[in-house]
Amino acid sequence: MRSTIVGKAQAPQLKLPFDVDKIRNEFPILGETVNGHRLVYLDNAATTHKPQVVIDTISRYYEAQNSNIHRGVHTLSQRGTDAFENARQIVQKFINAPTPSEIIFTRGTTDSINLASQCLAQLVLNAGDEILVSESEHHSNIVPWQMVAAQYGANLIVAPIDDTGEIVIEEFEKRLNAKTKIVSIGHISNALGTINPVREMTRRAHAIGAKVLIDGAQSIAHIGVDVQDLECDLYAFSGHKVFAPTGIGVLYGKRELLEAMPPYQGGGDMIKEVRFEHTEYNDVPYKFEAGTPHIAGAIGLGAALEYLSTIDFRAALAHEDELLNYVSERLNDIDGVRMIGTARDKAAVASFVIDKIHPQDVGLLLDSQGIAVRTGHHCAMPVMQHFGIPGTVRASLSIYNTRHEIDYFIDALLKAKSMLA
Ligand code: ALA
Repeated sequence: MRSTIVGKAQAPQLKLPFDVDKIRNEFPILGETVNGHRLVYLDNAATTHKPQVVIDTISRYYEAQNSNIHRGVHTLSQRGTDAFENARQIVQKFINAPTPSEIIFTRGTTDSINLASQCLAQLVLNAGDEILVSESEHHSNIVPWQMVAAQYGANLIVAPIDDTGEIVIEEFEKRLNAKTKIVSIGHISNALGTINPVREMTRRAHAIGAKVLIDGAQSIAHIGVDVQDLECDLYAFSGHKVFAPTGIGVLYGKRELLEAMPPYQGGGDMIKEVRFEHTEYNDVPYKFEAGTPHIAGAIGLGAALEYLSTIDFRAALAHEDELLNYVSERLNDIDGVRMIGTARDKAAVASFVIDKIHPQDVGLLLDSQGIAVRTGHHCAMPVMQHFGIPGTVRASLSIYNTRHEIDYFIDALLKAKSMLA
C-alpha cells in the first residue's frame, strides 16, 4: 500500500533484524492490563508509546544532568546543554537537514505551525494574497492559517480531496497562482492515512514562488523523511508521535528562510543584546526558542530517534504496512463496514464506519475488551464533512502491533457489532 517506505534519510541501516516480540518487550506499557484484558493499542496516530530507553534517558537527565541550558558556566549546565544540542544533531540527521541550526525545538506540530504561520506571514503575506491548504488537513494545519489570513486580509484556499481521500492534484495545481504565497500540506492524513505526493506538490508550488510547509505529524514515524529530498521550506512534527515525550516538537526550516523570518516570541535566549531602545536577536535557531525549553523532552526525542536507528526501520515499516493491508482486508470482509480513506498510497491508518452504529459506541465496547482506538472527527472536521459523516472509528498502527492483535480486534469488533445492531 505504501509506495515509499523509507527515503534517503533512513536508507538501509541494517542493524538488528526486525523482531516484533523483541520490539514489544522494549515498550513496558504494552504489558498493561486494561479492563481485565491485555492492552491492544491501536491509537498510534494520536500518540505512540515510549520505549524503555526513552524513559531511562529522561530519568537519567533529571538524576544527573538537570540544569538550565545555554546559561550556566557550571558543569551541570554544560552537561544539560551538551545533551540538548546533541539531540538537535540527532534530529538533523534523522530528517537529513543540512545543518543543526535549521532545527527549532517547539512544543509539537501545532506549536511549529503556529510559529511558522506567524513568522512567515510577516515576511511574505499581504492583503489579497492566498494560502493554499487541502481539504484533508488536521485542524492544526487550518486554524493557524485562518488566523494569519484574517490578520493580513489574505484568503485561505482549499484544494479538494476525492472520495478515496486523495488530494485532486489537478485541482491543487489550478489553485496555484501569482497570489499564492504559502502552501501548507499534510504529508500523511491523520484521519484517512493518505500519503500525499508532497514532493511533487512542493515542486509545483515552488514553480510559482510559494513557500511550502509540510505537516509531518503523521509521517515522521511512518515514512522516511528527507527534507532535502522533499525540498520543502518548512517541516513540522511532534516528538510524541515518534516514541518520544509529549510537549516537544520540531520545526525544520531552510536556513536562509529562518534567517529572514522575524521571531515569534520574545524572551530569554532568543536575544544577543537587549536595550530599551533596541534588541538584537540571536542567531537561528535560538532566535525562535524564547525561554527555557523542554530540555528533557528534547533529550528524550533524541533518544527515541536513536532508538529507531538501532532497529531495522525499513523492515519495521514493511511489517506495519503488512498489518495495514491485513486489517483493511479483514474490515472489508465485514458486512456493513465502509472504509473511509481508500487512497492508493496509505500508511498506518484504517478509518471506518459501520452502518447504523455510532463510532463512539463501538469505541466504548472495544475499550471494554482492552482495545484502544480513537473515534470521532480526529481533529479533521472538513474530512468528515466531505464524507457526510460525524466521525469514524480509527485503528492506527505502529511498528509494535501484531497480526494477533488485529485478529483480536476484529473478533471484538464483530462482537460489538452484534451487540449494537
Ligand atoms: N492528531 C492526533 C490524532 O490524529 C491527536 O489523533
